[in-house]
Amino acid sequence: MQKLAWWQHSVIYEIYPRSFQDTNGDGVGDLRGILERLDYLAQLGVDAIWISPIYPSPMADFGYDVADYCGIDPLFGTMEDFDRLLEEVHRRGLKMILDFVPNHSSDQHPWFLESRSSRKNQKRDWYLWRDRPNNWLSHFGGSGWQLDKTTSQYYYHAFLKQQPDLNWRNPAVKAVMFDVLRFWLRRGVDGFRVDVMWLMIKDDQFRDNPLNPGYRMGQSSNSRLLPIYDSDRPEIHDLVAEMRAVVDEFPDRVLIGEIYLPVQQLMTYYGSDLKGANLPFNFQLLQCAWSAEAVAQVISDYQAALPDGAWPNWVLGNHDKARIATTVGARQSRVAAMLLLTLPGTLTLYYGEELGMTNVPILPEQVQDPAEKNEPGLGLGRDPQRAPMPWDSSLAAGFTSGLPWLPLGDDHASVNVAALEKDPRSILHLYRRLIDLRRCHRTLVSGRLQSVSADNGVLRYQSQREEEHILVLLNMGQDPERITIESGSVLASTHLDREGQKVSGTVDLEVAEGIVISLDM
Ligand code: GLC
Repeated sequence: MQKLAWWQHSVIYEIYPRSFQDTNGDGVGDLRGILERLDYLAQLGVDAIWISPIYPSPMADFGYDVADYCGIDPLFGTMEDFDRLLEEVHRRGLKMILDFVPNHSSDQHPWFLESRSSRKNQKRDWYLWRDRPNNWLSHFGGSGWQLDKTTSQYYYHAFLKQQPDLNWRNPAVKAVMFDVLRFWLRRGVDGFRVDVMWLMIKDDQFRDNPLNPGYRMGQSSNSRLLPIYDSDRPEIHDLVAEMRAVVDEFPDRVLIGEIYLPVQQLMTYYGSDLKGANLPFNFQLLQCAWSAEAVAQVISDYQAALPDGAWPNWVLGNHDKARIATTVGARQSRVAAMLLLTLPGTLTLYYGEELGMTNVPILPEQVQDPAEKNEPGLGLGRDPQRAPMPWDSSLAAGFTSGLPWLPLGDDHASVNVAALEKDPRSILHLYRRLIDLRRCHRTLVSGRLQSVSADNGVLRYQSQREEEHILVLLNMGQDPERITIESGSVLASTHLDREGQKVSGTVDLEVAEGIVISLDM
């Protein structure tokens, strides 16, 4: 069997830097904070960290509005802090993935300041300027077009008006942005997560999007139209291939794409001859109903759609989506952990998932996220899943000596790293156990997934590699179940109390219990 690349057998851990660990008392996490917590991450067993944007930014969208692609925002530290962090990451055998935000810059980026200064400016065409707007909408509510008084033209912004979209059809934009990638690759970063990859190229004729017949009141206003002409355009694939070629100028790096599309379209981002994204993020588990039937379907459909030779990946959470322990509930969050960590391919976790962190309710006066501010009350706000990481039971949970930028969860006195550390059956220990299991049993990473089925609320699948057969049973239903199986021994259970048990003929599962069994051959 071919040796796997590091990113193929990796568990990636997303750090939202504002919320991980503050070291200077300003209530916002920073790079030194991440450095202080690297041993925790190494002990958890993850292989790589992906850090959400740390570049200089006015923070209109908390770093996803970049004002300098090759710098570090003072809020997070300095370039020296960054280099030191990268060195320490590597010293521990970990990898670092940076967020790359190519679709749009900040409106304070010098390129945009130049571009907006006159119709004749040489950077005018670096952004999307039009005399008249079409009907494209912003993902954060309202029109995607903003009239700029200086030159009486409109510019397009898929997100906030402070996030003008770059014109990726312009070769100069491509050249300068590819050099940004090289700048960080040369510094030693191990790859990129590319923000909104499927939005980067728009229709060259700026045709209006059609109405969405499926739109219902109460959904985000952006879903009133079908995103036919402002996303997933055919030309995107050449661009992704070019980006991949830049990343491949450096050995052993990875290109990951953030792409929210149905599975068939998602697969096209692997590129022809697999020369596109190494990993188009697979968000299916974040979007499907939590039932054995629905998850079995998702797994089967994903496996069936995967192009030959393409490497699978699974994501359980990120800074844009409600936390898994909130969507599935505390008991099922352990099942969710076992599901994720026994699926083949590359896996991505979101900070705090290993603690069973839930969404933190945010009062109207505490709202920070522009998605909530622009369209309040629709549940679009992302602050609840961005609350500070609780490290201990002290007042500010060991996150900061100051006032946290977002409130901590009410439960942080019990849901924190120090407390869960002391309880050998805690979800934190479950995560460690499962990550370790994955390391010891490569069948879980690269085995052939088969016999995916759902029966009476129990999800069942098997991974096979060489002589090893591993069976996973997850009770996602409302009742205890007795399952018929061949003989084997338990490698792990969600309650952390069955390891080593011999099973044969049948096995009983409690509600919200999952087990991993090595079958006798
Ligand atoms: C991506 C990011 C999200 C951000 C948006 C605009 O979806 O994950 O947080 O608001 O892009 O950059």
